[in-house]
Amino acid sequence: MTTTIGQESAKSVESVEARLLRVRGGNRLRGEARISGAKNAALKALAATLLTADEVVLNSVPMIADVLSMAELLRAFGAEVEIDRERKRVTVRAVAITRTTAPEHLFRPTRASVVAAGPMLARCGEVSFALPGGDRIGKRPIDLHLRGFERMGAEVRITGDSVVARAAALQGARIYMDYPSHTGTENLLMAATLASGRTVIANASAEPEVVWLGNLLNRMGARIAGLGSPYITIEGVDRLHGVAETVLPDRLEAGTFAIAAAMTGGDVTLRNVREADMLPLSEKLREAGAEIWYWDDLMMIRPGTKLRAVDIQTLPFPGFPTDLQAQFVALLTQAEGVSRVHERVYEDRLRYANELRKLGADIRIERYGAHGERLSTTAEVVGPARLTGAHVQALDIRAGTSLVLAGLVADGEVAIGDAYHIDRGYEDFVAKLARLGADLDDPGPPAPA
Ligand code: EPU
Repeated sequence: MTTTIGQESAKSVESVEARLLRVRGGNRLRGEARISGAKNAALKALAATLLTADEVVLNSVPMIADVLSMAELLRAFGAEVEIDRERKRVTVRAVAITRTTAPEHLFRPTRASVVAAGPMLARCGEVSFALPGGDRIGKRPIDLHLRGFERMGAEVRITGDSVVARAAALQGARIYMDYPSHTGTENLLMAATLASGRTVIANASAEPEVVWLGNLLNRMGARIAGLGSPYITIEGVDRLHGVAETVLPDRLEAGTFAIAAAMTGGDVTLRNVREADMLPLSEKLREAGAEIWYWDDLMMIRPGTKLRAVDIQTLPFPGFPTDLQAQFVALLTQAEGVSRVHERVYEDRLRYANELRKLGADIRIERYGAHGERLSTTAEVVGPARLTGAHVQALDIRAGTSLVLAGLVADGEVAIGDAYHIDRGYEDFVAKLARLGADLDDPGPPAPA
């Protein structure tokens, strides 16, 4: 089925909003699951389609709410977007950009929408948008994006919470990022592909999704070197052309399922996994006592020894991903001993610990560094804790899945409110878990209008 999207995604988001997800614990996960394309790569690839008037075909695109919102944003700018849900294919033709102001209702709710700014500025010399929102996990400013645009010759004006950026022609520049921002690097990388001359981004992000996006842009005719290192060099070109590409596997989805398997003592094989992207998680899961094997694109999680406490700190790749911190804490509630978890990317990303506590988890939070802009928070997790059913709230995508994972080992029923957060980031999460033997209610796809 091929559909252009419009009201469809708004309707589906609305119908899951009221959703209460119920999980009953006690089952070991067993079997196979196929990992979808990565949300955090697909969203940027969609933004990259604005850089060319040619057709771009993306395969293995996860059919999730955030992707549908991004597709709507592209349409608002004037692009034609076709979505083939069965084939998981999105085709975009941004032949003409008909407007440069992002509609607020499309731009603000999803943080990733900010990566449309760089391509729009490069292609049209102008973009205006409302400061983006996204999950409530910390301050999440975009100063590094905007400063980079300015270094490339753009004039950036912020009035209230709206931003206007203009540049008659972007110039290559030397840009130093105070912090290796993931979307910041992507935004500047995309803008620089069509700038005149050479851009060097120092202290660039080396996240796998950034490397993948850079390679996609090179396949569209860009000249980018140094991907995966802290220095990325971009030689600007006059135009980019169309491409057909498959989105890389979602390491965060794979990680979430791997943690779920390990904490239930399960025996699970995940397909469509890239071992190198999983390194930080594999190391920590093994240290905690899980058995992990890789073969080709398979990741196998087998029952290991009793889980034991380990310490983690979240850092930019190849550090431990902040996007798997909440799920790993769910596992640590079941590990013997005291684990310390340092969240060093987002100052508010341990708020969900209160929800885990309602289930009986023993977690203490310390905050320090209050004089700096960036607060580092540390959780001390004492395990193993007996978790029991309760009503809890999903605060964001990853915190939501952490509660589901806790539900898999809880006595009784865990009812998770605002479960729509999970649909923003995971394709068929509930159905995939159910196929692995988890006992949870799948509210099913939204009813047709
Ligand atoms: N930061 C700044 N200034 C900026 C940009 C970032 O100070 O201009 C700070 C942030 O406040 C934060 C830190 O830098 O403390 C990290 O932010 P980063 O820019 O790297 O994150 P992001 O690009 O906004 C992406 C992912 C997140 C993921 C992070 C870290 C997308 C759409 N989002 O966010 O994914 O946690 O990188 O890898 O790619 C998720 O998928 O659930 C999610 C939140």
